[in-house]
Amino acid sequence: MDPDHDSRFKNHMTKNVKKILTDALEALQKAEDAAVVQEVFRAYAGRKGALRLLLQEMKSLPEDKRRAFGKEVNDALGVLEEAIEHKLVSLGGVPDMKQKPIDVTLPASRRAHGRPGLHILTVVRREIEEIFRSMGFSVAVGPEVEDAHHNFDALNIPADHPARDLWDTFWLENKDGHHTPGALLMRTHTSPVQVRYMEASQPPFRIIAPGEVYRYEATDASHEFQFGQIEGLMVDRRDSSHPVTMHTLLSVLTQFFERFFKKTIALRVRPSYFPFVEPGIEVDMSCVLCDGTGTVSGRQGLPAGRQGCSLCSQTGWLEMLGAGMVHPNVFKAVGYNPEELQGFAFGFGIDRLANLKYGVPDVRLYRSGDLRFLESFRT
Ligand code: FA5
Repeated sequence: MDPDHDSRFKNHMTKNVKKILTDALEALQKAEDAAVVQEVFRAYAGRKGALRLLLQEMKSLPEDKRRAFGKEVNDALGVLEEAIEHKLVSLGGVPDMKQKPIDVTLPASRRAHGRPGLHILTVVRREIEEIFRSMGFSVAVGPEVEDAHHNFDALNIPADHPARDLWDTFWLENKDGHHTPGALLMRTHTSPVQVRYMEASQPPFRIIAPGEVYRYEATDASHEFQFGQIEGLMVDRRDSSHPVTMHTLLSVLTQFFERFFKKTIALRVRPSYFPFVEPGIEVDMSCVLCDGTGTVSGRQGLPAGRQGCSLCSQTGWLEMLGAGMVHPNVFKAVGYNPEELQGFAFGFGIDRLANLKYGVPDVRLYRSGDLRFLESFRT
């Protein structure tokens, strides 16, 4: 093509830039409110504004002239945007001059919609359920919004009994904005499902009750205000050929933990107090990291030999759960005759169990919604 023609064309385009910029600045000067300023922006600097359209026309320029022309247009856009910014500030309008009109036709930006697969706590809960099902247990459920009768009274924790302080409670307000005895609460443990199940059934039975529970307490690496628990309850007649004893409890728990952690484990029992069982116990399990020895092999780069196990603080034991034989008062509260029946109950935390299996250092991670954490599990 004729080089003179190219130059003439470029000059023509350059004049256009100047003319458009002058027009835009004039229109801006006359603008008396932010809406008109936005209009000026749209007409000259917006996606389909006069200056941006020039950038499209630029394609018809020879390549060596395009760059210089592109710079002229961008400089003009810069001048105009700055002028718009000043104008908006002087009008007391939106000080963010980069604010552009919303183009509703643009495709929405992509957002992560969680991740495929199940939440790791669901995977763990289902695994727990599966193991107990294979031992003849059925799965029972109860409401997360509970009344004080099922969460406390029927479990041998009367109002004003100091044992209520063991569970810091989220009370729900009545219509009048107060909470009174008998009011509703977020269940503090899965033990009320024991009561509901017994109210509706007759022994013999063996159930587990998984679910979310809530506590009004400060959080740290091993405490959340919402977490999962698994309740266990097995009841039969005292004169049954296989009465349910403390021995039954420990053998069920040993089988469960060995299958869950896929290794041989030992259990240890300490006396404890829960108002709804008598005797009450706390069950510890041999540490799954050091197998109860309290020490682990030294890591590379550290002195040879064994080192103290950090998981169990070198004790060789991990605190796992509360349990015991169902208290006669609980049987009475559901209309059972404690002279005829006996059974065990236990309750443990799903989150802390998942910690042990997957090496998670902090229970607060599970419900943080942090996709980086959730995606680290292949479920
Ligand atoms: C109870 O909640 C009793 N209902 C358990 C029970 C049932 C005892 C039946 C006897 C018979 P406790 O408050 O200790 O007990 O909680 C049981 C388990 O829940 C604990 O062992 C722990 O694994 C878990 N847990 C307790 N508090 C938290 C918390 N804030 N965050 C995460 N897990 C917790």
